[in-house]
Amino acid sequence: MKTIAPIKGMKEWVAFLRTKGLTLGLVPTMGALHQGHVSLIRRAREENDKVILGIFVNPIQFDKEKDLLSYPRDIEKDKELASREGVDIIFAPSVEEIYPKGFSTFVEEEDLTERLCGEHRPGHFRGVTTVVTKLLNIISPDRAYFGLKDLQQSHVIKKMVRDLNMNVEVVVLPTVRDKDGLALSSRNQHLSRTERQTALSIYKALIRARELFASGETNSCEILQEMHGILHKAGIFQIDYTSVVDPETLEELEEARPDAVVALACWVGNTRLIDNMGLSETTSLKERLPALSSLEREAHA
Ligand code: PAJ
Repeated sequence: MKTIAPIKGMKEWVAFLRTKGLTLGLVPTMGALHQGHVSLIRRAREENDKVILGIFVNPIQFDKEKDLLSYPRDIEKDKELASREGVDIIFAPSVEEIYPKGFSTFVEEEDLTERLCGEHRPGHFRGVTTVVTKLLNIISPDRAYFGLKDLQQSHVIKKMVRDLNMNVEVVVLPTVRDKDGLALSSRNQHLSRTERQTALSIYKALIRARELFASGETNSCEILQEMHGILHKAGIFQIDYTSVVDPETLEELEEARPDAVVALACWVGNTRLIDNMGLSETTSLKERLPALSSLEREAHA
């Protein structure tokens, strides 16, 4: 496994692999890898000849300086995991490499980014779409892999690829959760033991939303109110949003439908967490456990 920092070096490798007629899968990440990232790497491994893992903590997608500075980084551990998972190349450029002095061109999606996280994190998605465009331009992969955990991000990227006729297939994979249901996230590292317990109420609130819908409740307001109740009871009061949305347009739905997704973003202490779940996603985690795939079982081990 190679680790490459310069863009020029990365492009040379891509050109070399292309002369051999090999297909390339790109998994863009900000590092601090966990089993959610691993699920993307494994799928990329299955579907491509070579897997390139992007590791770059993208400063322009952080709306708070403190969040950027405290973002977990452990490149050595990431390298070990990547190597174990059969990654061929890690592309880990420096900030100066990606944003040299005088950089002034940005990519912006203007519709889907208006809602949900877009309302609360000004400039965030502009930072994401800009860096992902750069990675796609540098690597020209056949496929790029993203997680449904970041529901809005995956939609925004798909839209950008469609709108700008980019030559890449965007593959979106389900959220990997911890044994107890908490969605894996690099930011979970910031949680204290008590905060992690508190954060579990996010999963519980999503499950409750699904249960209510299954029992016939379709009024989104009622569903969201119950979710707020669960979060408040756990001590979460800083809630950026809870929303029942259309799975494609992400528009808020007053009336919940079987294909709707419930999404939320809230703060546990100083850590902002997001999660989402389809209202018709099958069964609770408890019932789901025996049916877990080997990958998930490993994540839960
Ligand atoms: P990062 O948070 O490192 O996530 C990298 C990819 O892993 C994203 O596509 C994300 O949705 C996916 N992912 C994170 N947690 C997951 C989980 N529990 N289950 C499944 N997939 C999960 O998202 C970013 O980085 C950045 O915004 C990036 C796209 C790299 C642009 O800078």
